[in-house]
Amino acid sequence: MVFLAPVLLLLALSRCSSEVVTDFTQTCPQFFANPGGTLSPPTVFPGKKYKQICQILGNTYEYATLYDTANKIPVYSAYRFNGLMQCTRQSNWYIEPQLENINYSKKMATESSVTNIQNQAVDDDYANSGYHRGHLAPVLHATSQSCSDATFTLTNAAPQDSSFNSGKWRTTEKAVADTLVQNCKGNSAYIVTGVVPGTGKLKNRVCIPSYFWTAYCCLDNNQQVKAASGFLGQNENNPVQEMSIKNLARKLSDLYGQVFRVFGGKCN
Ligand SMILES: *[C@@H]1O[C@H](CO)[C@@H](O)[C@H](O)[C@H]1NC(C)=O
Repeated sequence: MVFLAPVLLLLALSRCSSEVVTDFTQTCPQFFANPGGTLSPPTVFPGKKYKQICQILGNTYEYATLYDTANKIPVYSAYRFNGLMQCTRQSNWYIEPQLENINYSKKMATESSVTNIQNQAVDDDYANSGYHRGHLAPVLHATSQSCSDATFTLTNAAPQDSSFNSGKWRTTEKAVADTLVQNCKGNSAYIVTGVVPGTGKLKNRVCIPSYFWTAYCCLDNNQQVKAASGFLGQNENNPVQEMSIKNLARKLSDLYGQVFRVFGGKCN
């Protein structure tokens, strides 16, 4: 006890003081599937360049992101899906102040409010690049208007081939939403959407992903897996492949060059 108390106090302090957090499964566990009652987050790669973010715009956590500050793109965003809300798209994009200094505001903010942005992408990186700021947690899946607004942070976006973004990938987002509306109504739908870093860069700063992937896990009211599926597509407008979570995890582990689990090895 004597030993534990100061550690717990430290944990408690760090937990409520920041949005870039040491463990997003502690700060915002609501975005991660819990099949069989066990919280089953995607793999968090080791290394200081990876930052865990509980995304907050107003006063509510909206989703969680693992961000790669070296490649300046997310690894993935994790969120809940509650149906199609017909949210309006906003045009401004935010950045994450705490990626620059942990003492800055925990709320996402406009680029102009932070000087000397080093650890994340900025609007100018994408300007005239021919690449879209491809949402990971998309507007289409947002659970509310404020959630939709909160998806407009560059920590939730990666350079996406423009025809892929408005073509096969959009179709995939819609198909996932339709499937969940049909087969997961009244239950809990968890989604993780991510990218695999490629070799090219925008402005010699922001990595262009080679692949986009997404996966859902629908749990019934006893936290039993009702349905689950994964999707993987190259960052060009070719067909997106649907596969089991197990196969997606296997392919992603190959592509990342390290073991990756989509739902903590569950939802297979
Ligand atoms: C944040 O604030 C603390 C306490 O004032 C200070 O010790 C620390 O150096 C600051 N961190 C940065 C990165 O500025």
